[in-house]
Amino acid sequence: MKFFIDTANLAQIKEAEDLGVLDGVTTNPSLMAKEGITGQDNILKHYVDICKIVSGDVSAEVISTDFKGIVEEGEMLASLHPQIVIKVPMIKDGVKALKYFSNKGLKTNCTLVFSPGQALLAAKAGATYVSPFLGRLDDINQDGILLIEQIVKIYRNYDFKTQVLAASIRSPLHIVRCAEAGADVATCPLSAILDLLKHPLTDSGLAKFLSDAKKFTTVNS
Ligand code: G3P
Repeated sequence: MKFFIDTANLAQIKEAEDLGVLDGVTTNPSLMAKEGITGQDNILKHYVDICKIVSGDVSAEVISTDFKGIVEEGEMLASLHPQIVIKVPMIKDGVKALKYFSNKGLKTNCTLVFSPGQALLAAKAGATYVSPFLGRLDDINQDGILLIEQIVKIYRNYDFKTQVLAASIRSPLHIVRCAEAGADVATCPLSAILDLLKHPLTDSGLAKFLSDAKKFTTVNS
């Protein structure tokens, strides 16, 4: 399973990259706004700055909602850097644009997916990635992991090439459950990736090894 980081924060992207486990980045307008990145020139420069930190795919989201606007904006985003993936919302004109981009060989990420039917449409339209938002389903008392399992099963039934990019991940358990379900990618906040490291028995075991090593060093010095 690939690990993407779900942020526009350059320091966090760099930290995940330095850990050696990062395969890409996803952003959205809310994440850009959270970093205070506003104005088209600054936003476009920020995407390029992200591409300079990582070597994998970087999703940049369109804000147009009509076919012509999505196509123009998507092509402009894709021209910024070869790593850019055009992120398109799951709406009617978005599906048409996914097909258009797919025919042109441009990579896409279909976002705001909350049902297996939506994921089926994204795959039929040739999306490179589909982004089911599992945390937001959990928030409304629906089973987000079940959605990941359903999409993985449907895609495997028909050998769709669209990769399942589990999004709206909130915890290390979400990441593990997505891996069990067979998601191709998990896009996560840095905190959830770092929380995978944690286990109290690792901490106590290491403390014991280090204190025993100190005794050994003392005896032999
Ligand atoms: O990748 C989608 C993500 O940014 C949404 O996450 O936590 O706002 O539901 P969240």
